[in-house]
Amino acid sequence: MLQEKITQYTTEINDFSTENVEELEQFRIKFLGTKGIIKDIFDEFKAVSPEEKRTLGKVLNEFKQLAENKYQTLKEQDQGEITGKDAGLDLTLPGAGFEVGARHPLALVRREIVDIFSKLGFVVAEGPEIEDDWHNFSALNFPEEHPARDMQDTFFIKKGGEFGDIALRTHTSSVQVRMMEAGQPPFRALMPGRVYRNEAISARAHCFFHQVEGLYVDEKVSFADLKQTLFYFVQELYGEGTKVRFRPSYFPFTEPSAEMDISCTICKGDGCPFCKYSGWVEILGCGMVDPNVLENCGIDSTKYSGFAFGMGIERIANLKFEIKDLRLFSENDTRFLKQFKTSLI
Ligand code: PHE
Repeated sequence: MLQEKITQYTTEINDFSTENVEELEQFRIKFLGTKGIIKDIFDEFKAVSPEEKRTLGKVLNEFKQLAENKYQTLKEQDQGEITGKDAGLDLTLPGAGFEVGARHPLALVRREIVDIFSKLGFVVAEGPEIEDDWHNFSALNFPEEHPARDMQDTFFIKKGGEFGDIALRTHTSSVQVRMMEAGQPPFRALMPGRVYRNEAISARAHCFFHQVEGLYVDEKVSFADLKQTLFYFVQELYGEGTKVRFRPSYFPFTEPSAEMDISCTICKGDGCPFCKYSGWVEILGCGMVDPNVLENCGIDSTKYSGFAFGMGIERIANLKFEIKDLRLFSENDTRFLKQFKTSLI
């Protein structure tokens, strides 16, 4: 009887194999547990005749050994492996992955502009977005009631008062004023920042946008310095061979003033819908700082001269990435923003 049972269980143990922790535990309970088969068999063994005990004793010990060995081997083999499957996981599936953020295209372009000018020794200066009339207009040679003030439709916060009108700045030229008031030349700085103008929002205009303005004031700064600086900037930004041209223009705070065009980055000057078949696109305004502005800021205009320029970051980004609708920059649509993922640094 007992012998038969042992033979039967021996085959079962020999045939048993699993990679599953649960099944292995079932095996242990069934054979080696305190209420297991081996315990039963040993109990039965107590009742057999002394002759049988002699022969069966050895068989029984071997059987017990077999069960224990089997359990140990399977357990060790199991520990060597990842037990993911046992927990109901399929470890061959691809991971969920990390969503890496992307820089905003305007931040990428601002950074590139700042990097280029920093090679020429320009530092970054910042100022408030809420400005008084003096810093945004008067110090910059916009006379009271002068139509030039209408050039930039302004969001006024407060009319009149101790500091005159208070408004959202319409350009970062206000930061140039603050910088010049606070020290003496030489100045060589870039003013990146958000500016506001009261315009109806459309694909081509927005009530706020971003600028980078630049200021360079020292002794004997000339228009040639202005041209060479901006020429260098354009070669760095759009590649060597990009042509530039200056057209006379008007800003209250510069004299003479100019607007700078570059050869169309899309058709390389051959003419395309983007440049309206002219081969040129405008990218910035610039000029020699008007002596009145220097004097307004406490700088001796007989000793010092300087140039200034200002560009819209959206405009530059537009030329770089061919973004047709300005609104995309501020809508935070991740389908748009994700496209800049490759440009992480
Ligand atoms: N402030 C001008 C603007 O808002 C840009 C500019 C800056 C032009 C400096 C000339 C010199 O458009």
